[in-house]
Amino acid sequence: MKKSALSALGHRTALPPISWLMQTALTRPRLISLAAGFTDNATLPVEISRKLLNEILRSPKTGRPALQYGITAGETNLRQLTARHLQKLDLASSSFSSSSLVLEQKSRARRKDEDEKIHSPERVMITGGSQQLLYMTLEALCDEGDIILVEDPTYFVFLSILQSQGIHARGVKLERDGIDLVHLEKVLQRLKETSEIRRVKALYLISYFQNPTGVTTSFSKKTGALKILKKFEQAAEHPIYLLEDAAYRELSFPDRADLRVSRAEQQLRLTIPPSALTVRGAAERVIYTGTYSKPYAPGARVGFGILPEPLFTAVQRIKGNHDFGTANLLQQILARALETGLYDRHVAKVRKNYARKARVMKQALAEHFPANVEIWESGGGLYFWARLPKGISAGVKSKMFQTALRNNVLYVPGELCYADDPSRAKPDNEMRISFGSASEENIRKGIARLGGVLKRFTR
Ligand SMILES: Cc1ncc(COP(=O)(O)O)c(C=O)c1O
Repeated sequence: MKKSALSALGHRTALPPISWLMQTALTRPRLISLAAGFTDNATLPVEISRKLLNEILRSPKTGRPALQYGITAGETNLRQLTARHLQKLDLASSSFSSSSLVLEQKSRARRKDEDEKIHSPERVMITGGSQQLLYMTLEALCDEGDIILVEDPTYFVFLSILQSQGIHARGVKLERDGIDLVHLEKVLQRLKETSEIRRVKALYLISYFQNPTGVTTSFSKKTGALKILKKFEQAAEHPIYLLEDAAYRELSFPDRADLRVSRAEQQLRLTIPPSALTVRGAAERVIYTGTYSKPYAPGARVGFGILPEPLFTAVQRIKGNHDFGTANLLQQILARALETGLYDRHVAKVRKNYARKARVMKQALAEHFPANVEIWESGGGLYFWARLPKGISAGVKSKMFQTALRNNVLYVPGELCYADDPSRAKPDNEMRISFGSASEENIRKGIARLGGVLKRFTR
């Protein structure tokens, strides 16, 4: 008799690093966590949510539907509001980007039509966080042994899904404005030569203020990536999608005058590109995922996506089996927040707050980190990325990580963010440092502690 009755997936699924990182952060009260991507506690919208809940539950007419099961793809009103919200974001970004399809004057009417189709509520799916959507999308798209191309480095929880589902990953080098397109083409060419191209299903990009590096993918790189993917479709014998994860899109820092960066860098920050959905003629190849967790509240876990057919139908059926619909009460809170403008007001506050915390962290890094540590800063999101001199390990098993833990400070070892790609070794001299959940005081203390540890190892 076998020892267990677990399925292949049950056997295969390793402990996701996110679980032990979060547990470490939550169970050691003296530890300062600069690791997990928790959002800022002090700005969580307690009063707004109480007010909205009161409104929803004020009468049976509004309260009962909120406390009842709903529709698998999401509540109709929230799907409409989300579609409009995304359209607004794309239009706002396109006003900065001359290469965007939406802005050009000539064929505005046609563009408007196209745009409305792209952002149609019928293509919107509401989920229990965007994590659920990423999981279901991979279920709908991939069989065991299929390949997803990822940024090198990428969101480590996404890598855990790949590991669990038996999907292979190939890394594409990351530059300061998005993936290296020359490398993307090389990777695909190599996969074509080894006849693995038929296993390639998608390229996964975290396109705004990336987790973990803070990089934002330029619009021209989105356009270029879609062109390259298209070129290899014939060899693949099926569509190859661009899976655009826009989890941090709304967390851009508003206070640019204060950032003391070069003009070129300022320009880059001003230009928050439109989504890949707006690349002309490419909407059928883009899967877009977003979330209300980061801008509003992870505890009211609502995510969303725009999916082309036949993926939309496949994911909807899978969701029918997962939960046949995201919690209605949570959807209603978000719908009301969007409708009343409270959401926009809250997001404006949150962005200012993160800009301030990022500044505090930047100052602390300048003060306490050794000069030979390269720091990548961002114009938004929750993270700094630090690269130590080559040969100095900051990995999970490294003395540095253990010493940092003993000194009650936690970071995400960068090596966790690299896929198991047989074509290259994983760098282990990097760390992701988050200013998301720590208070300003703890950011200063945590960076001072970490800087002290680093100085011991980089001397
Ligand atoms: C890049 C990225 N995508 C998706 C998610 C999932 O967020 P949620 O499920 O709360 O929408 C996260 C969470 O940290 C993330 O960093």
